[in-house]
Amino acid sequence: MAQLWGGRFTKETDQAVFAFNASIGFDKRLFWQDVEGSMAHVRMLAKQGILSQEERDQILEGLKGIARDVESGALEVDETQEDIHSFVEAQLTERIGQAGKKLHTGRSRNDQVALDMRLYVRGRVEETARLLEELLEVILHTMEENLYTYMPGFTHLQKAQPTTLAHHYGAYFEMFERDRQRMGDIYRRMNYCPLGAGALAGTTYPLDRDYVAELLGFAGPTLNSMDSVSDRDYLIEFLAALATVMMHLSRFSEEIILWNSNEYQFVELDDAYSTGSSIMPQKKNPDIAELVRGKTGRVYGALMGLLTTMKGLPLAYNKDMQEDKEMAFDAMDTAADCLRLFTGMIGTMRFRTDRMEKSAMKGFTNATDAADYLVGKGVPFRDAHSIIGRLVLYCMEKEISIEQLSLEELQRISDRFEEDIFEAVSLKACVERRLTVGAPGPEAMEKVLESCRKRLEENRGETFHWTGLLQAAEWREK
Ligand code: ARG
Repeated sequence: MAQLWGGRFTKETDQAVFAFNASIGFDKRLFWQDVEGSMAHVRMLAKQGILSQEERDQILEGLKGIARDVESGALEVDETQEDIHSFVEAQLTERIGQAGKKLHTGRSRNDQVALDMRLYVRGRVEETARLLEELLEVILHTMEENLYTYMPGFTHLQKAQPTTLAHHYGAYFEMFERDRQRMGDIYRRMNYCPLGAGALAGTTYPLDRDYVAELLGFAGPTLNSMDSVSDRDYLIEFLAALATVMMHLSRFSEEIILWNSNEYQFVELDDAYSTGSSIMPQKKNPDIAELVRGKTGRVYGALMGLLTTMKGLPLAYNKDMQEDKEMAFDAMDTAADCLRLFTGMIGTMRFRTDRMEKSAMKGFTNATDAADYLVGKGVPFRDAHSIIGRLVLYCMEKEISIEQLSLEELQRISDRFEEDIFEAVSLKACVERRLTVGAPGPEAMEKVLESCRKRLEENRGETFHWTGLLQAAEWREK
């Protein structure tokens, strides 16, 4: 049990209270951000004449030594400390003595943790953008290869109209592309430095907040010290964006589970990405897709949890806010794992394009096109709809599809049918004539593909240049 604040207390903290209050068990993952933030802080203190150059150098050396030792494994985070901030400060003082006690000048753990968390989340926002780019690449590749792979499109999970695999995948490209853009939006809004807000009302030391912001690669300092220590909006935004990513992954997973089922057999998962049954030897299960679908719940949970934690908090910092970490960390780990595994799974999955095409031909997916054919022959659409409805009923009784009818049978229902009906309702014609922007016709798709490639390439990595004057890995210099 070790604390930074023993002075005004006459009694030891109860053991259970200490354990309940402590956050080191989970905030130890902010170690690197804590060191980085402290290095920037101490440089600024010396620049402003608040600490001497000698003190600055001693503290910087001490911090670098701690970082190197943690990295090499020579030093383990000591969990008898209350939190990661206490651990770093205690280590520093143990190593360099008096100067170590000056590190916290003009700083509170409230603005310190606000900074650490922002630095951490900023890194994970970028990581998520990179993972989304990898997924988008796999999706794009499948689109490029399957402009002419026909498959049924569904509404209400009933076969509706024919489309292509490229078109179906294109829907997911748009979803994940929006997700990737959201990472850039969050980053731009969050990239301001809260350090210097102090406990809540700034400090009387002549801090240079612009300089600290610059050192850490922020666009500038935050502008209200109370908001700085109590704002977790950026984290809520990130969790909301991750929840949306998971929702998209979950829908895609659901489709893959269906496509991989015995009834569909549209895809075959690679052995490396499926699992067997302990009792049924024939089984090859889509567990990864099911887990991605299942894990969506815990990411939503983290978002709802944090929104609920924040909703009743008066300004400024309250200890409730320590609860911003565990579930959020879990959500970030979960979403990153899901993105990686899902990308690997769809990247190795085999498409059974023959079965997709056969399936597209069944279920009267060309009924709309048959009605459109009659419209072309002068029949009003509402009448054409009714004629084809009767035609479908007739086919269902005979268990055949529209193109299997003879011209005489067709003409018995409407004398507008001519020989060219067969070409008009062929799968190829049904798909290739759909040429409006966003439709599956290959010529329309080619244009969209070009835009997809461009969006992926032009935006790759672009929004995330935050390298400050201080490099994150400065302790590696020696
Ligand atoms: N462990 C705390 C947290 O995560 C750090 C801030 C502590 N501040 C305080 N006034 N007790 O929020």
